[in-house]
Amino acid sequence: MKIVNKVVDLQKEISLLKEQGLRVGLVPTMGALHEGHLHLVTLCKEQNDVCVVSVFVNPTQFNNKEDLEKYPRTPEQDCEKLKSAGCDIVFMPSVEEIYPEPDTRVFNFGALEQVMEGKMRPGHFNGVAQIVSKLFYMVNPDKAYFGEKDFQQVAIIKNMVKQLNLPLTIVQVPIVREKSGLALSSRNMRLSKEQKIEAVNISKTLFESKENMNKMSIQKTIDSVIEKINSIPSLEVEYFQIVDGDTLQNVSAWNDSNYIVGCITVYCGDVRLIDNIIYKH
Ligand code: PAJ
Repeated sequence: MKIVNKVVDLQKEISLLKEQGLRVGLVPTMGALHEGHLHLVTLCKEQNDVCVVSVFVNPTQFNNKEDLEKYPRTPEQDCEKLKSAGCDIVFMPSVEEIYPEPDTRVFNFGALEQVMEGKMRPGHFNGVAQIVSKLFYMVNPDKAYFGEKDFQQVAIIKNMVKQLNLPLTIVQVPIVREKSGLALSSRNMRLSKEQKIEAVNISKTLFESKENMNKMSIQKTIDSVIEKINSIPSLEVEYFQIVDGDTLQNVSAWNDSNYIVGCITVYCGDVRLIDNIIYKH
């Protein structure tokens, strides 16, 4: 496994590989890697000749300076995990390397970015689009891998690829969960033992709501999910929305769309957890 820090070196490596006709897959990450990330790496390796993983905590997608500073950075452990998972090239650039000039590009994702995470975290998806588009230009991958855990992020990236006419396929990977059902996240490390047990109620409630969807309207499902989760002392729902999986706009009946997803954000103490469930696809 090669560790590359400079853009020119990355581009040299990639063009040599492309000249040989090899298929290149990319997994963008911010490090602090767990089994969820590594599952993307495994799929990338299976579906391509070369697997490139970027590890870069992207400052432009943080709207809070403290959040950026507190973001866990574990480069040595990340490299070990990536090596075992079969990664071929790790790209670990500095901030100056990625942004030699400030990135002044402003993307417009219309209604896609005006809801849920986009609404709660202004500017966040513009920063995500800045870094991911740069990585796509640098690596020129055949396929790039994104987790459904960040459901809105995948929708935004797919839209960006269309807007920019980029020649690659986005592979959307289902959420990797702990045995308990809790969606894997680097933020889970910040939960106490008790909080972790209580947080299991998020996915449990979502799964139950899917089992009962034929008996309940959308509005009843929303109300009951929020009520059940809020009844657990350490949990507080920020939002729960049932949306069309492509447009991310609210649906009001189960037959409004063939692709319906419930997206939730819950505070467990001061840890903000996100999860979702696909009701229909
Ligand atoms: P990060 O949070 O490090 O996540 C990297 C990728 O791993 C994302 O596509 C995310 O959806 C996926 N992922 C995280 N937890 C997962 C889980 N439990 N199951 C499946 N996939 C999971 O998302 C980002 O970084 C950044 O915004 C990035 C795209 C790298 C741009 O900076």
